[in-house]
Amino acid sequence: MNLKSKFVLAAVVAVLSAGMAYAQQPIVIKFSHVVAENTPKGKGALKFKELAEARTKGRVKVEVYPNSQLFKDGEEMQMLQLGNVQILAPSVSKFGPLGVRAFEVFDLPYIFDNDQDLHNVTQGRIGQQLFKMLESKGIVGLAYWDNGFKEMSSNKPLKTPADFRGQKIRIQSSKVLDAQMRALGATPQVMAFSEVYQALQTGVVDGQENTWSNIYTQKFFEVQKYITVSDHGVIEYAVITNKKFWDGLPADIRAALDSSMKDATKYANDIAKQENDQALEKIKASGKSQIITLTPEEKKAWKKAELKVHRENEGSIGKDLIQEIYKDTGFDPAKL
Ligand code: LMR
Repeated sequence: MNLKSKFVLAAVVAVLSAGMAYAQQPIVIKFSHVVAENTPKGKGALKFKELAEARTKGRVKVEVYPNSQLFKDGEEMQMLQLGNVQILAPSVSKFGPLGVRAFEVFDLPYIFDNDQDLHNVTQGRIGQQLFKMLESKGIVGLAYWDNGFKEMSSNKPLKTPADFRGQKIRIQSSKVLDAQMRALGATPQVMAFSEVYQALQTGVVDGQENTWSNIYTQKFFEVQKYITVSDHGVIEYAVITNKKFWDGLPADIRAALDSSMKDATKYANDIAKQENDQALEKIKASGKSQIITLTPEEKKAWKKAELKVHRENEGSIGKDLIQEIYKDTGFDPAKL
């Protein structure tokens, strides 16, 4: 072999081995979220990791970052668009700052009576229609995951709308939630989830609204004297990914990830209610917060006070979308 052919051979070997090394590098998926691991979303993310790694036989590695360890509210969406994280599962109440206010339809007070009403929307045409709106933002919606119904907590007992007067209440970044608190006479304050415990503890805010699972795992119940069983809305998640990343995956890998997401979604939604029921029992057993149950008349007064939020937000959400959801959920404002 002359010198020239030796050189060519060496170059070919170098290119081939670099290619093999590249082929052996797993595709890393960073999955960031803001809640604890022992929550419906935390467990769902770990289930996705387990299934995705097994079904791709190690060609994909999923790194799950819970508790805002990697990115917190207010930064994670931009990080997804920039490709610094590949999967998020923010609550649907957090898409407004991205410019997709239609997701705030989920925040309309009392629009869902039960899980079935919610699933009619998330698992139907409207759920897909909302995901389509993300594409122009470089985002693909993969699935909807449930947490559960929200309750109101404060250091003051909240039994009637009048009790909200003068209360400063933490909300997620949703204009509908802002309007909901104002309709009740409270002052809303948008705050990242990771900052809520300290804000409650130090009195920066008086109260907040969340599911039993979040109230328990973030220890909000230790710094809130009262929790009212209001069930006035839901915490629902959209599992989302970066479109360019997702579209660029090899087809067989994407198929394995799609099936893993489908099964992780079923798992997360199956455990959500039980996780919340168990959290409620633990909060009760702690004796740290007093749990207030509303009479049917009291609940009616809450509904009446909050109903105007539906009309007020027709402009930003879309009147047609609201009407379609009324159809899917059977919600009838005249019946309140
Ligand atoms: C909140 O900010 O209160 C929730 O959206 C947190 C979560 O992800 O459940």
